[in-house]
Amino acid sequence: MQNTAITIRPMSAFTGAEISNVDLRQPLAEQTYLEIRKALNDWGVIFFRSQDLTPAQQLAFARRFGKAEADAHVSNMQGVDGIPEVKEVVREADHVRNIGGFWHMDQSFHPNPSCFSVLYARELPPVGGDTSFAHLSAAHDALSPGFRATLERLSCTHVRSHADSAAINPAASALSHEYYTESLKKFAGMEASHPVIATHPESSRKVLYFSPIYCDRFDGWTREESLPLMTHLTKVMTEPEHTCRFRWEEGSMAMWDNRAVVHYALDDYAGHRRLMHRITVEGPWLTPCSAAA
Ligand SMILES: [Fe+2]
Repeated sequence: MQNTAITIRPMSAFTGAEISNVDLRQPLAEQTYLEIRKALNDWGVIFFRSQDLTPAQQLAFARRFGKAEADAHVSNMQGVDGIPEVKEVVREADHVRNIGGFWHMDQSFHPNPSCFSVLYARELPPVGGDTSFAHLSAAHDALSPGFRATLERLSCTHVRSHADSAAINPAASALSHEYYTESLKKFAGMEASHPVIATHPESSRKVLYFSPIYCDRFDGWTREESLPLMTHLTKVMTEPEHTCRFRWEEGSMAMWDNRAVVHYALDDYAGHRRLMHRITVEGPWLTPCSAAA
């Protein structure tokens, strides 16, 4: 049986692990799958290098972890090779918009966000385009018990169009006001409320489920009242000690758990093309603290 002696190398104290000695073109042996799944639960995001995958092979890997989403969420991304689950995430050399260039979890503005994202690098700039990750349990565990108890009573509303507002998201500063106006129309009402503290269904660890840009306000609070606390949570969430940073190579693949980490696509390769293939996977969502009690 192949792929039975994988190596797992953590990237930092809390976040990310690189997995080697595995050929993802092959169907995963059950033991290998279990070890990969445990690494994902332990570290929130896992990385593979030097893989040579077709879109169908990437999809077969993703499907070991749950149902791959075809069109569960509104998206303007194209399916690859006629496979709707494999989305092309491309930034052309002349594009000003850098997709995901701010700390976020994928699709948190939906009531049932994607659980896993599986991103495979096909074409990369000569330098730059790294992705950073930060573990939501590390952020939770850094808070004082009294503060956690307060946050456990709060929920937050995540708003899709905030990502396109230069006033809210510095990464959108290159976008025109017309682009934001269009985004407001296109994504009107696309928002969802989530508890600020919740329990991960597989690791049983608590997480700080907070998105610095998408979060508009704590429910029942005004935005003005919410901003100081949101600024503080952003600082805790993105402490350098809570993060890892992945430098992509062609053939690298990352898989992360949107219930366990936030991520940030660095915008430092203007003038170059970057092409990735992304699959998202469904799964059981976080458990609110009130339901777990
Ligand atoms: Fe993302």
